[in-house]
Amino acid sequence: MNISFLDLSQINAELKDRLRQKFSELLDKGIFSGGKEVEQLESMICSLLHSSHAIPCANGTDALELALRALNIGPGDEVIVPAMTWVSTAEAVVFVGAKPIFWETDGQGLLRSDWEKAVTEKTKCVIPVHLYGKMVNMSALVKKAKAHQLFVIEDAAQSFGAVQEGKAAGTWGDIGCLSFYPTKNLGALGEAGMCLTQDETLAKKIRLLSNHGQPIRDQHELIGRNSRIDSLQAGFLNVLIEEFESGQKIRKVFAKRYVEKLSGVSELVLPEGILEEDHNAHLFVVQTEKRDQLQVFLAKNGIGTAIHYPRIIPDMRPYRADGDFVAARKLANEGLSLPLNPYLKAEEVDWIVDKVEEFFGLMF
Ligand SMILES: Cc1ncc(COP(=O)(O)O)c(C=O)c1O
Repeated sequence: MNISFLDLSQINAELKDRLRQKFSELLDKGIFSGGKEVEQLESMICSLLHSSHAIPCANGTDALELALRALNIGPGDEVIVPAMTWVSTAEAVVFVGAKPIFWETDGQGLLRSDWEKAVTEKTKCVIPVHLYGKMVNMSALVKKAKAHQLFVIEDAAQSFGAVQEGKAAGTWGDIGCLSFYPTKNLGALGEAGMCLTQDETLAKKIRLLSNHGQPIRDQHELIGRNSRIDSLQAGFLNVLIEEFESGQKIRKVFAKRYVEKLSGVSELVLPEGILEEDHNAHLFVVQTEKRDQLQVFLAKNGIGTAIHYPRIIPDMRPYRADGDFVAARKLANEGLSLPLNPYLKAEEVDWIVDKVEEFFGLMF
């Protein structure tokens, strides 16, 4: 068997046809920026996630930057971010001129709950990242942030559709940032992102910032930029969103299969809470001291895996910062993402499980 970590060419033929049809519709209409598809995407996401406002933009990294700018975070300000995340979380903070203050994570890569020890008089904001699709405990985090008068920007790039206490990932913070990068659970056929907020004033500002500061053409009220979503991507997302729920169901079925079958492997740490609703089963990250050997063994058996991520941010040259970050670094050294996506087949999941068991010397 040959099993890719994720092969987006496996999108089924019927869905490919609907996407081609959408492309040809938009080509015939000649609308490539703004328009009805963008409006439809906004309203579909608002109703799906129960968010008052949804402002699409060019990608998830821009969403973070727009969020920080909308909250007037910049030079002289500190922003608390987890040591383990995709680089964008820290990158956006540096890009607006603020300083990321890295904090340790728990064993699953989520911002450790004692993060408020990092608060100084310069701290303006905290950015929890719902890594691998698992949500940080948001009611506790928001409560603490309020006590310190800090803004909360949720990096919900990996957790689209996860829900905690009835509230969707991205709707807990002052602003929530989404990514529709193609590999995400709701992924476009290119780059796209979005800011969510429940505050009308912030929504207006994000919209202005993402469109040259203009409420209407040629009237520039503030210095913005062009981070508009592409109409084609909005159109594709309007098609793909219809598949989201069924894709989620398949992810959960396969995640359950992995959990049931791999829980007997004592040398593996499995993802916590992946079957709960506050996890969208974006990635299935197992942890083992023999990570590198396991990855090579699986590759030799035709199984693609990935590492999210091999280095923590404060160990990277542009972001270098002191700190122990023991748990975050352990995850970087020991985490391995097994294939988990709606294009897999049950036999493939079973084959992966067999090979993992074989690696650890367990043959049933
Ligand atoms: C945690 C996290 N934050 C931010 C981003 C940035 O999203 P994008 O790739 O759309 O810029 C991503 C996606 O790659 C991500 O995984």
